[in-house]
Amino acid sequence: MCGIVGYVGPRPSQDILLAGLARLEYRGYDSAGVAVIDEDGSLGMRKKAGKLSALRDSLADAALPDGSTGIGHTRWATHGGPTDVNAHPHLADEDRLALIHNGIIENFATLRDELAADGVSFRSETDTEVAAALLGREYRGNGGDLQLAFRNVVNRLEGAFTLLAMHQDHPGLVVGARRNSPLVIGLGEGENFLGSDVAAFVEHTRKALAIGQDQIVSITPDAVTVTDFAGTPVEAEPFDVSWDAAAAEKGGWSSFMAKEVAEQPEAVANTIRGRIQGDRVVIPELDGLDDLFTGINRVIITACGTASYAALVGKYAIEQWARVPVDVELAHEFRYRDPVIGDDTLVVSISQSGETMDTLMAVKYARERGARTLSICNTQGATIPRESDAVVYTHAGPEVAVASTKAFSAQITALLLLGLHMGRVRGSITDASVDVAELAALPEKIAKVLETENDHVSQLAGWMADTRSVLFLGRHVGYPIALEGALKLKEISYIHAEGFAAGELKHGPIALIEPGQPVFVLVPSPRHSALVHSKVVSNIQEIRARGARVIVVAEEGDAAVLPFADEVIRIPLAGPMFEPLLAVVPLQVFAMALATAKGLDVDQPRNLAKSVTVE
Ligand code: F6R
Repeated sequence: MCGIVGYVGPRPSQDILLAGLARLEYRGYDSAGVAVIDEDGSLGMRKKAGKLSALRDSLADAALPDGSTGIGHTRWATHGGPTDVNAHPHLADEDRLALIHNGIIENFATLRDELAADGVSFRSETDTEVAAALLGREYRGNGGDLQLAFRNVVNRLEGAFTLLAMHQDHPGLVVGARRNSPLVIGLGEGENFLGSDVAAFVEHTRKALAIGQDQIVSITPDAVTVTDFAGTPVEAEPFDVSWDAAAAEKGGWSSFMAKEVAEQPEAVANTIRGRIQGDRVVIPELDGLDDLFTGINRVIITACGTASYAALVGKYAIEQWARVPVDVELAHEFRYRDPVIGDDTLVVSISQSGETMDTLMAVKYARERGARTLSICNTQGATIPRESDAVVYTHAGPEVAVASTKAFSAQITALLLLGLHMGRVRGSITDASVDVAELAALPEKIAKVLETENDHVSQLAGWMADTRSVLFLGRHVGYPIALEGALKLKEISYIHAEGFAAGELKHGPIALIEPGQPVFVLVPSPRHSALVHSKVVSNIQEIRARGARVIVVAEEGDAAVLPFADEVIRIPLAGPMFEPLLAVVPLQVFAMALATAKGLDVDQPRNLAKSVTVE
C-alpha cells in the first residue's frame, strides 16, 4: 500500500515522478504528493487529497519550480484520514527536508511524545511526520550528515516501512530504507530511480536492483550505495525487468480490468510456457529441489483474498496428483495460533504482488518453524519470493486493476503445474499425458469463453444493475470459484454478494432465497462425476423452488440444467481440475459489466489498494 518513487539525474523530475505515481496509483489513491529540490537548492512540495489527478490539477494551476532531485508518493491512509495535511511528503528541519513513507511505524506514539517533549510540533496525524521530525532532529544534531542521520532514524523505528528522504542541502541525493515493505532501484544512464515496484521507472530503464530486508540505499545520478542498517555495505541483487512500459498501459481498453480480463489466455499461456516437456510437467526453477516435495507429509497453502481462492483450487489438484494432504490457511490467521508445522511441512505462499504483509509474515513464521517454503508470485524482485526457499513465477505481466483477474488465472495455472510436478517427483503420477494436454489447451478455451459469452454476460449485468444481492454456489473446484465470483462483485460493484459451497446452502443460507434472488450456480461436468453433477442439479432445484433467479455456468452440451435455469452461460469441455479457469471468466466479466453499468471506477474501487503492505 502506498506507492513511492524517487529520482536523481539531469532531467526535470516532476514529470518523471508524476508518471511513476500514475503507474503506482493502484497501490493507493486517496492522496498524492511530490517534493523536488530546484536548481537554486530550495525544496518545493505539493500534496493533495484525492486521486493523482487532483495533484496534477494543482500543479497545472501553479507549478512548483522544477529540479532534478525529487520524491513522490501516492497514499492509502493508515494513520490519519485522507486529507491534504496527512498526505505525503512530510517536511521537517524548517521545511528543508522531505520524507515519504509506506507502512506503519508501530512505535510512533512513543517517538512523537519524545519529540513533543523536545518542543517539536506536528501538523498531521500521521506516523510518517514523526519519522520526518526525527530525521530533522538527527540531521541538525550531527552537523548535516543526511546518510548518518537517516541510518540512526531507521534503527529507532519499529514496524514495517519503506522511507525515502532528501534534504535541500544535498541536491542530487535521495536516501531510502526498507523493512518488510517494498523498494527497488532502477539503474539509468547518469540517473537513478527508486520505486515501490519496477512500474515506477520501467519506462526509463529495465535494469533493476532488489534491496533486501533492513537495508538502506543512497542514490545519486552516478552512484548507488546499499548498506545494512549498521552501515555495512551489501551487494544488491541485479535483475532485468521482463516486461516493458507498454504492458502496463491501457492500450485502448476502457479500463485496466477489461484489458487484464482479456489478457487471460496469454497470461495462462505464458505461465505454462517452458514448463511442459513432452507429456510431463517439468518446472526448471525447481530443478535440484526434489527434496522440497519428497520428505514432506503435509502441504499448507497460505494466501489472502483472491489468491486464497486460487489456493483452494490448488488443494484439490495437489491432493489428487501428489497424494499429500493439503490445507489452505488465510495468511493473517495462520501465525496467530500455534500451527503444527515443521520440516515435514511444505508451506506454499501465493501472492500476485509478492509484498502482501500478511502473507510475508506467514512465510517468515513458517521458515522460523523449520518448514520448507515455496512461493508462487507474479512480481520479480518482490519480497515474498526472496524470503522463500523456492519460487514459481506466474508470468501474467503487470496487473494494475485492483481487482485481480489474470493473476488469479495464472496462480491457478501455476498450482496445476506444481501439482503435476510434485506428483511426478513423488511418484504418484505415472501418466500425466491427459492432464498435460488439458493444460496446454487452456489458453484457447479461455479465449473461446471470452469470445462467445462476453456480450451475453455483459447484457445480463446491464439488466441487473439495480440488484442488491447476488449469491454464488459451487461444489468441488467450483466452490472456490463461487467465492471468487462473489468477491469480484462486491469489491468493484459494492453489491452484497456471497459464495457458498452448494451443499452448505440447506444448512442455513437457503433462508436468504426469496423470489427473484439472483443465484449463479457453477455446474461441474457430468462426465467427471455424474454424482457431483446430479447433486448440484438438485441444489438448483431447491433454490428454484423458492423463487431464485438461476444463472448457471455449465459446460457445452449439458442439457440437464436447462429446465431449471433462467440463464445459461456455456464453457467448453475441460478436465475436472481445469474447469475453474473457464468458469471464473464470465463471473469476472459480470462483475466488471455490472460495476460499469452503475457508473463505478472498476480499476480503483473505494477503500481498496492493490498491494496490501500493512497487517
Ligand atoms: C481481490 C484481490 C485481493 C488480493 C489479495 C492478495 O481482487 O486482488 O484479494 O488477491 O489482497 O494480494 P496478493 O496476491 O498481491 O498477495
